[in-house]
Amino acid sequence: MNSDDLKKECAKEALKYIKTDSIIGLGGGSTISHLIGYIKEDKNLKVKVVTPSFKTKMLCIDNGLEVLHNCSVDKVSVAFDGCDEVDENLNALKSGGGIHTKEKLIASMSEDYILLVDKAKFSKILTFKHPVVLEVIPDSLKYVERKVKELGGLPTLRTSNAKDGGTITEGGNLLIDAAFSDVKNIGELENNLKNISGVVDTSLFTKVVTKVLITDEEGTRVISKN
Ligand code: 5RP
Repeated sequence: MNSDDLKKECAKEALKYIKTDSIIGLGGGSTISHLIGYIKEDKNLKVKVVTPSFKTKMLCIDNGLEVLHNCSVDKVSVAFDGCDEVDENLNALKSGGGIHTKEKLIASMSEDYILLVDKAKFSKILTFKHPVVLEVIPDSLKYVERKVKELGGLPTLRTSNAKDGGTITEGGNLLIDAAFSDVKNIGELENNLKNISGVVDTSLFTKVVTKVLITDEEGTRVISKN
């Protein structure tokens, strides 16, 4: 099985957690794209969707799924997302997409926030091979960089080849990729980074993940909080 086949299997398993006539959260990435296809095929589900991702929003609309404004919703029954890495204690890094602020908001609204991964993304303890990304208000850039260094991180402003200057989020903010190694207390790192003035949110998720579905050639196993 190649990685895409594993993602499809994982997305199929996710269907089991969706209640009919409910509001669900759908994050970004290819596994979620597969899940959208399966939801469309199941005519009985009748779900409405909230999403942090522009790509997912457009894909849902193309597939005939109703998408609600995030600001009109205060609770969802279950939300699914991908990630860059997740560990046995359900700590996750969601750094690649740069949309972690909205992702964490929808995760917080959800009774169940479930990460869908193939085995390559699962580790015993987060390795931090991906940076922790901080969405920051533009005025705070240099201050946040200094505080990140004080916490032992190496900050870099995220840029893209498509535009001069920093990559701007949908909230009009900047993104700092903060590289960390040898992290002793992952929960404390999330708290410390979130507490820096100017930081909107971080791509380190230590409190909101309730389950992870991990798919390999043998099938899918579930790790749940508690
Ligand atoms: C980016 C993310 C994405 O959700 C994740 O990368 C999607 O992965 P995949 O395409 O394997 O489903 O968290 O930060």
